[in-house]
Amino acid sequence: MTRGFLAIENETAARLEALLAAAGKLRPIYESGRASWALTGRTAVLAFFENSTRTRSAFTRAAALVGMNTLPFDASHSSTKKGETLRDTVNNLAAMRPALFVVRHPSADAPARVMGWTDLPTVNAGDGAHEHPTQALLDAYCLQREFGKLDGLKVVICGDLRHSRVARSNLHLLTKLGAAVTLVAPPTLNFDPGFELPVGAAATEDFDGAIREADAVMMLRIQNERMEGPFLPPGGEYRNRWGLTEARAATLKPGAIVMHPGPMNRGIEIDSAVADGPRSRILKQVEGGVLCRAALFLDLLGVPVDEAIKKVVG
Ligand code: CP
Repeated sequence: MTRGFLAIENETAARLEALLAAAGKLRPIYESGRASWALTGRTAVLAFFENSTRTRSAFTRAAALVGMNTLPFDASHSSTKKGETLRDTVNNLAAMRPALFVVRHPSADAPARVMGWTDLPTVNAGDGAHEHPTQALLDAYCLQREFGKLDGLKVVICGDLRHSRVARSNLHLLTKLGAAVTLVAPPTLNFDPGFELPVGAAATEDFDGAIREADAVMMLRIQNERMEGPFLPPGGEYRNRWGLTEARAATLKPGAIVMHPGPMNRGIEIDSAVADGPRSRILKQVEGGVLCRAALFLDLLGVPVDEAIKKVVG
């Protein structure tokens, strides 16, 4: 059966731990500025039907780290604009014999459909408000690198939960690997009432109380582009109650870190003094994204990481 990476909810803790460990093994190659030729000649289609800076760039860099070519597809400059369907687009890209697909799409099941049509390993690079599994993987990598473990960590995730695929993937991944997750959101930006929290997760509206004991605070972007209606309180109330202001960040315990998947709305969900301050690991998250995605390419194409790190050039 073709293996993809579509949703953390369906992944085992063992696979996630193996991917995190493999990412760590690739770090010395990355830091040395060299590359493995483990996947030379193989091609990754990067099919982006929504905008991206970090995810697309990190997949591109990850492919290079393990010797792969990329075939970038940007819907906004493609025949999608002339009305070509997703299926026709994918069939045409698949005819160019890639080894796998990476798909970002506004529809929640698009990456799964691509895998069904092509029978090629497919990575979900963010599908609607459903999941963003490689973001969660890189976030877990960042936390593990910082604290040496995930088990027992206290992580607060705050912001626009309603529209956040990042929150959903992180919630599943962090609780699967033993972290305690506290979710904070204004009532209008919370998950639907029917959403079942996994074991290890709790929810509150008391952001100040939640962050007091947190090891990490993960702020979410307000996703204005997905909002149809008045989801936000007026004026500066959002920032005052749910933003990670400089004053609020000062109440974090020593050693606590701040994360954000990007792109940030500076001055709304996070103050610049915090985003650029000593607790911020935001750019470390991005760096780990390259390693986690390279580890995933190796995994999907059946090359053990220990083999890949023996095949270094440069
Ligand atoms: N974190 C993230 O998905 O960022 P991009 O939208 O820039 O890829």
